[in-house]
Amino acid sequence: MRVAIACDHGGFPLKTAIIAAVEAAGHQPVDLGAFSAESSDYPDFAEKIGRSILSGETERGILVCGSGAGACIAANKIRGIYASVCHDTYSAHQAVEHDAMNVLCLGARVIGVELARELVAAYLAAQFSNEERHARRVGKVRRIEETGNPS
Ligand code: RB5
Repeated sequence: MRVAIACDHGGFPLKTAIIAAVEAAGHQPVDLGAFSAESSDYPDFAEKIGRSILSGETERGILVCGSGAGACIAANKIRGIYASVCHDTYSAHQAVEHDAMNVLCLGARVIGVELARELVAAYLAAQFSNEERHARRVGKVRRIEETGNPS
């Protein structure tokens, strides 16, 4: 699948390794920047990832900032984007399987290259389970997004 990758300056040191990990997992990275370590604003890159996924250019995203937190907060403001910081491999696949996560957020000041590679592999290998209880819960999340109410 095509995978959007974006970062601010805080995430920039991890970007090359993440692109390589996406390729190693047999997927096609789409690099949306940043293209230097110059100071930049993570919401701008959250918006680029969101636009890429919602337009159908890519199916999933990986968004990197210093902690992963700012990127995640910004990405989740975009309707149709379901982002989480996952710094353990269980969460990196479970959040796709149960919660339909479509943007993995990472903190380049928190994790190292080897863990990042494993997280990317776990995330990209996972698919939404389609089990009734998970679909029901994701449906409620979408209704909160649309109406402010899960039911
Ligand atoms: C940038 O210094 C840093 O605040 C940003 O990358 C991110 O960690 C925010 O959550």
